[in-house]
Amino acid sequence: MTLTLGVLISGRGSNLEAVLGAIKSGEVDARVAVVVSNNPAAPGLSIACDYGAEAVGIDPNGYPNRSDYEAAVVERLNAHQVEWIVLAGYMKLVGKTLLHAFPNRMINIHPSLLPAFKGLDAQKQALDAGVKESGCTVHIVTLKMDDGPILGQVSVPVLPGDTVETLSQRILVEEHRLLPRVIQGLNSPPPQLSPSGEIEGPASLPTDRGGRTTR
Ligand code: GAR
Repeated sequence: MTLTLGVLISGRGSNLEAVLGAIKSGEVDARVAVVVSNNPAAPGLSIACDYGAEAVGIDPNGYPNRSDYEAAVVERLNAHQVEWIVLAGYMKLVGKTLLHAFPNRMINIHPSLLPAFKGLDAQKQALDAGVKESGCTVHIVTLKMDDGPILGQVSVPVLPGDTVETLSQRILVEEHRLLPRVIQGLNSPPPQLSPSGEIEGPASLPTDRGGRTTR
């Protein structure tokens, strides 16, 4: 079944491009119906246009409060009857108006091994903490920032001499693989537990559903 997606971005849009590329190559059975950015100047909006997706900038400054802004975003998403929302570098907190329109149907990608290093500058936080391993996570969105059930995780090493740029780039490569894989997994039925507690289900079920994948 082809999923109809709405993607929210704020800037560069490299994760959006990875998703659009994976759809084009047939790796992911989905369609990006609309891309919305809270930043009307986001470069990612041009990427959306290049792939033929509708791209729209909705500036929160044009609305009296967050709820009215989010209502405008929801209206755009609903106009395309999207089934899942993908936050791909959307750097605004999600409020009730947006979340309640798509309960448990919104995913986010974050450049750390959650629950570690939530929020801004996750790669710098990892370097400052001196960890030997970081990575990226895709999770279901809740009202808490960078929180919610984890659908997939990939780890990368933190190497001696790493800078924010080198670590970010190593993580980004994995983000671009993980996000399309998780989206494709949304197409699969969830695993069933047998009475004895063992997982039953289609053999094609992605191995990173509900758990962590390490390269
Ligand atoms: C990505 O690294 C993404 O994980 C991060 O912003 C970047 C967006 O890059 N998101 C967060 O930090 C969310 N808390 P992109 O615009 O090139 O996809």
